[in-house]
Amino acid sequence: MKFRSSPLDAIAGVSILAMVCLLRAAPQELLRGFEAAPRPSASAFQPLLTDPTGNFSLSLLRVNGTMLALAVVHVRSSQPLWVADPDRPARWSDRSTRVSFNGSLVVSDPSSGVFWSTGTDGDRVVLLNSSNLQVQKQSDGDGGTPVVLWQSFDFPADTLVENQNFTAAMSLASSNGLYSMRMGSNFFGLYAKFDGISDQMYWEHKALEAKAQVVDGAGAVYARVDPDGFVAMYQNSSVPVDVEAFNSFQKRIDSFLLLRLESDGNLKGYYWTGSTWAMNYRAISGFCELPSPCGPYSLCSADSTCACLDNRTEARPGSCSAPGSSDFCGGGGGPGSGGFSVLRRNGVELPFKELMGYVSASSLDECERACKSNCSCWGAVYSNTTQFCYTIDYPIQTLVEVADETKIGYFKVKPARGEKGKAYGVGFRVGVLMWVLIGFVVACGFGLVGYRAWRRRMRLKGHLADENGLAAGPYKDLGSASFRSIELSSR
Ligand SMILES: *[C@@H]1O[C@H](CO)[C@@H](O)[C@H](O)[C@H]1NC(C)=O
Ligand SMILES: *[C@@H]1O[C@H](CO)[C@@H](O)[C@H](O)[C@H]1NC(C)=O
Ligand SMILES: *[C@@H]1O[C@H](CO)[C@@H](O)[C@H](O)[C@H]1NC(C)=O
Ligand SMILES: *[C@@H]1O[C@H](CO)[C@@H](O)[C@H](O)[C@H]1NC(C)=O
Ligand SMILES: *[C@@H]1O[C@H](CO)[C@@H](O)[C@H](O)[C@H]1NC(C)=O
Ligand SMILES: *[C@@H]1O[C@H](CO)[C@@H](O)[C@H](O)[C@H]1NC(C)=O
Ligand SMILES: *[C@@H]1O[C@H](CO)[C@@H](O)[C@H](O)[C@H]1NC(C)=O
Repeated sequence: MKFRSSPLDAIAGVSILAMVCLLRAAPQELLRGFEAAPRPSASAFQPLLTDPTGNFSLSLLRVNGTMLALAVVHVRSSQPLWVADPDRPARWSDRSTRVSFNGSLVVSDPSSGVFWSTGTDGDRVVLLNSSNLQVQKQSDGDGGTPVVLWQSFDFPADTLVENQNFTAAMSLASSNGLYSMRMGSNFFGLYAKFDGISDQMYWEHKALEAKAQVVDGAGAVYARVDPDGFVAMYQNSSVPVDVEAFNSFQKRIDSFLLLRLESDGNLKGYYWTGSTWAMNYRAISGFCELPSPCGPYSLCSADSTCACLDNRTEARPGSCSAPGSSDFCGGGGGPGSGGFSVLRRNGVELPFKELMGYVSASSLDECERACKSNCSCWGAVYSNTTQFCYTIDYPIQTLVEVADETKIGYFKVKPARGEKGKAYGVGFRVGVLMWVLIGFVVACGFGLVGYRAWRRRMRLKGHLADENGLAAGPYKDLGSASFRSIELSSR
């Protein structure tokens, strides 16, 4: 699934040759009645249908070894270019999962039903040489030109290939589901879902309108990767309202291009060199400008290293904060009161502050108060020079370290899950202690009764020797044992 070449290149080469042989056998159209099941022996993907060039195939793609996705893959690199997005994943099992065509292309399981379907009533499935998968219906009129009922180009996953139109009705989603790309009225933007509700834009590319203007009401703007090495935005003419060039622009690289929204939130362009995918475009060039390169509650330094906002150094992203994404509303003592501690840090800035909302505040205190009293606010960054107060309405992510110490961050911190556990532990230990004490008192009582009875007997027998040892022994043991258990339980 990665573009990087691996040390297993030789093995990969052999399996690709084997795959190419298999592909020869894969048909160029699927008709009604087609049915296939995953083969246990298939390693990376199992082709069902190939395009006329043999460069692409509709395949069953293995995901995490045991799961299955229906995908259009680039054969030589096993790179998925399109993936069907089912509500739940299907299993790589020849006993359960079926892919069939009955007018609809369907992924199903006899016991748990339909995972995914095109919901069409077509005659055939074809894969074009552009990698576009289509369900077509034969038409009687119009010279027999088939009608396209459904095409994969309208439902991209994380990748756009050259000549694929990206409209306002579509979105790209990174494979981890955190980031998305969408069209606006005259721009395309990248958005992050840092929690269930937030939808923060972190990168925007506006149309420059150098050759043509965006006209209100003259139709939606869409984007397309051009094989000549750029991504262009169009309104309703073939003259683009914007051109964003790839590095390969005008170098006449005659090769297949794609644009992919990566799981770190970056948007990258690649071209196929004949043996590998080479990167020739990236929307975000600085590591610290990515939406959350170091994870929640972290700090990214100019030398691209990560640390925690609270000065603990971190070894890996995500180690700076306790998990949990619900805001500070509800529960506790009501909005804004309690339920969090505060972390302050000077010399910090938001990585995409020009895309964030702010209010003017005459002082740091005013800025902090606005956030403190608002339970959906997670933090604020105040600039003493501009008096801008940026409020953050999603769990705090990576901030950028700046030399300017008058830029001050105020961050709400949820009590760590560990502290809750500790509270439980304390309660538990107090309980244990209580029982130990009760046991001690009871045992002591019985012990005393028993001891008196014994002494009485001893006295009666006239044997008073070793009185302390015998009497004190068990008493002392019980005492030390109970102290030991108190020690253990308070550890
Ligand atoms: C498609 O196949 C041709 C001919 O084999 C090859 O030159 C070209 O690099 C392939 N393109 C891709 C994207 O694999
Ligand atoms: C095709 O199969 C699916 C799943 O079994 C079913 O829901 C659908 O109605 C069928 N479509 C047609 C046109 O028969
Ligand atoms: C792809 O197919 C179209 C028409 O279907 C054709 O004009 C074009 O030359 C083909 N491209 C390649 C690379 O085969
Ligand atoms: C993309 O949009 C253009 C202009 O509307 C259209 O001519 C072209 O057929 C579309 N391409 C695809 C693959 O849908
Ligand atoms: C972290 O360290 C910096 C520089 O050493 C200091 O200015 C800052 O107050 C510290 N922050 C916290 C939260 O301890
Ligand atoms: C609280 O913060 C949210 C998110 O920042 C904002 O949308 C809302 O308007 C704020 N409410 C008040 C009363 O300031
Ligand atoms: C912030 O600005 C005020 C007034 O402009 C100034 O008195 C104060 O020293 C500044 N604080 C910092 C930390 O620079």
